[in-house]
Amino acid sequence: KSIPTSYARSGMKLVKTAKDKFVEMAEAASKDGYKVIAMSSYRSYDYQVDLYNNYVKSDGVEAADTYSARAGFSEHQTGLCVDVYDGNLPYTSFEQSPSFNWMKENAHKYGFILRFLKGNENITGYQYESWHYRYVGIDISTYIHENNITFEEYYAYYLEKKD
Ligand code: DAL
Ligand code: ZN
Repeated sequence: KSIPTSYARSGMKLVKTAKDKFVEMAEAASKDGYKVIAMSSYRSYDYQVDLYNNYVKSDGVEAADTYSARAGFSEHQTGLCVDVYDGNLPYTSFEQSPSFNWMKENAHKYGFILRFLKGNENITGYQYESWHYRYVGIDISTYIHENNITFEEYYAYYLEKKD
């Protein structure tokens, strides 16, 4: 399902629930005066192949592996993840934008979490990304927000709780 172009570059797709909650979130941000725009969302396997290969070409395998998933391993392929920016490039400066602070306070209310946290590269396996959010549902996003943990830590906790 595509995100309307008022809140995304054209052709940005997510699974339906994630799309609906993303639009709700972007609308709320907009009402508060902040822009949250989707610039990358669902990616096909072939798209991730090209993306990763291009990163390898420009930065080498070792560097590419710190910030890009190999094809078949990107969360973007699930249709649950979205990279956002505030309309100003480069998107890698999203952390400096007021929209980032808005997301920090509010994303969890719509079921989204910041996925690759600063200082947790050893846990997530990737560099910090201020722009990459994953839809996990409101119960989980609230738990993760309140406990200030990574998705990996939540998952470990969840498995433990199940036994
Ligand atoms: N940039 C993230 C890790 C991805 O490629 O899915
Ligand atoms: Zn991403």
